[in-house]
Amino acid sequence: MAFDRNIKIAPSILASDFANFGAECEAAEAQGADWIHVDVMDGHFVPNITFGPSTCAAIRKHIQGVMDVHLMISPVDPYIEAFADAGADVLTAHVEAGPHIHRTLQAIRGAGMRAGVALNPGTPASAIEHVLDLIDLVCVMTVNPGFGGQKYIPMEDKVRTLRSMIGDREVHIEIDGGVDPTTAPGLSAAGADVLVAGSAVFKGGSVSNPGPYGDNIAAIRSAAESAI
Ligand code: DX5
Ligand code: ZN
Repeated sequence: MAFDRNIKIAPSILASDFANFGAECEAAEAQGADWIHVDVMDGHFVPNITFGPSTCAAIRKHIQGVMDVHLMISPVDPYIEAFADAGADVLTAHVEAGPHIHRTLQAIRGAGMRAGVALNPGTPASAIEHVLDLIDLVCVMTVNPGFGGQKYIPMEDKVRTLRSMIGDREVHIEIDGGVDPTTAPGLSAAGADVLVAGSAVFKGGSVSNPGPYGDNIAAIRSAAESAI
């Protein structure tokens, strides 16, 4: 996983067919996805439940590139090894998920994964000021986590602040929630390089008709790239 700041589109399988994750991941990659974003929810940290490490392990076999696992769970630490065993490349924990984010990020890297930290819309950039050397990615939530298809909450100021805090560090800035061709340009201009998109990628297509996935990914990418 070499570092770069090129725009990467990461379809969130939360918006895909839950009975067909393997084929959905293969279709998304064939249609131009750079990363595959996998949302794990526990019904406790967020008001929705998706799936856990065993499903991630099953999905892994159908992803050739980066499996980007977003944990919306609390606690995180007891499950880090299980997600490493499942083959996560990036494992992202929320800074709000517990009192010991520093320890959690050390443990994620210690388990051989890239470490990500996610910030809810109400959490300031300064919350991660003292862990910048422990992370490979910061995920800026532009919706309150828990569900796909929500309305975008503007966070360009937070993205600009993070971009300047990060400086020369090899840390990706990822955006999650309400990303589409209309919201992508302001985000890429502010310094984001990984754009997660669920509804905006999977709408209009299916495993048997994946062409719309490709059109949707291309539209988000070109909107984002045009603003840089
Ligand atoms: C929200 C999830 C997102 C979600 C984004 O809690 O973390 O990854 O799938 O969905 P859209 O792109 O539809 O807003
Ligand atoms: Zn997510």
